[in-house]
Amino acid sequence: MKIITIESVAQLIQQYGLDNYIKDLMKALKRDFGRWDSFTKMPRPAMHVPGGVLELMPICDNDKYYTFKYVNCHPKNPLTGKMTVVATGQLSRIDNGYPLMFSEMTILTALRTAATSALATDLMARKNAKVVAIIGTGAQSEFQIKGLQLVRKITEVRYFDIDKKAMDKFEKNMKGMKVQLVRCKSAEEAVKGADIITVVTACKANVHVIKNAWVKEGVHINALGGDTINKTELEKSILPRSRVVVEYFDQSFIEGEIQKFSEKVARKLVYAEMHELVNGKKKGRANENEITLFDSVGIGLEDYSVLRLTYELSEKYHIGEDRNLIPSMRDPKNLMSIVRKDIK
Ligand SMILES: NC(=O)c1ccc[n+]([C@@H]2O[C@H](COP(=O)([O-])OP(=O)(O)OC[C@H]3O[C@@H](n4cnc5c(N)ncnc54)[C@H](O)[C@@H]3O)[C@@H](O)[C@H]2O)c1
Repeated sequence: MKIITIESVAQLIQQYGLDNYIKDLMKALKRDFGRWDSFTKMPRPAMHVPGGVLELMPICDNDKYYTFKYVNCHPKNPLTGKMTVVATGQLSRIDNGYPLMFSEMTILTALRTAATSALATDLMARKNAKVVAIIGTGAQSEFQIKGLQLVRKITEVRYFDIDKKAMDKFEKNMKGMKVQLVRCKSAEEAVKGADIITVVTACKANVHVIKNAWVKEGVHINALGGDTINKTELEKSILPRSRVVVEYFDQSFIEGEIQKFSEKVARKLVYAEMHELVNGKKKGRANENEITLFDSVGIGLEDYSVLRLTYELSEKYHIGEDRNLIPSMRDPKNLMSIVRKDIK
């Protein structure tokens, strides 16, 4: 069984290139959203614990592979030197149930979230969108900007975080990314003049990181940090003004910005699920003045796409280690032979 560590992912990205990887991942996401009905899927089971949430994200393509991801979100973790979000995951064969790969997924989550936002932005934002505002400059932030640069000619990135050190880190990591950086003193200042607003903060509460009055016509919003019960980032009144697209209504209604509404109202508010845009059944934007909103929570299908791509590339480039996590013996019923070396 292949084990993909943090070092393996870093090696893969350095060898293959970050842009190439995100581009391939966007293609994989299009392929997988494009065959939405062929997956067995479910809203992720979440266990809420003091200070955070623990989630498991299973999905099966009914053809070759089953995947799952374990992920947490503990917004106060950075206060003790730990990340807010960490993850691990697995890819298994469905014909015999054998696991093929176990992988780190903290970096893979940042990559797949960036590729998914980029895909949504490509389908929904104005073609001439060039100014991005990013609120929350934590672990996900630079990956998000990388993704957006692949789908629009971004000239300016305006950014704000309540933590000045997180903004300093963002500035350093953005070096060489060929955009004008504008450090802002508030979220309101950051969104001024922005064509695309990416909100990616972490706070286990219903907060108004973005206020309705600041949202101008024609803007596209990627709302990523509202992704579990009682954890949202937008003022409620933004939603009825927007063309709202979610990944998977059944999960988004529990976890996304749309959780603030009754199911009846939410069903009316949501214009489409992502797969309907990918398949061309519905349009991401009706005109230049419309406000579009990708109310993202992150779904198992995106983890499936990233695990599968990582498996394929790691096979091609001989990356990762083979370890015995599954017993292998001549007689498949003789499991005891592995632990009792005294018996021949
Ligand atoms: N939708 C998805 O698929 C998806 C995937 C991954 C992460 N997420 C979510 O994205 C969020 C960010 O994740 P991360 O790994 O970057 O976390 P992080 O803790 O590294 O970064 C979050 C940043 O937000 C800042 N922040 C908090 N409240 C703020 C506010 N009111 N205004 C401005 N900045 C504020 C924090 O100071 C921090 O720097 C989390 O809420 C996480 O659950 C969503």
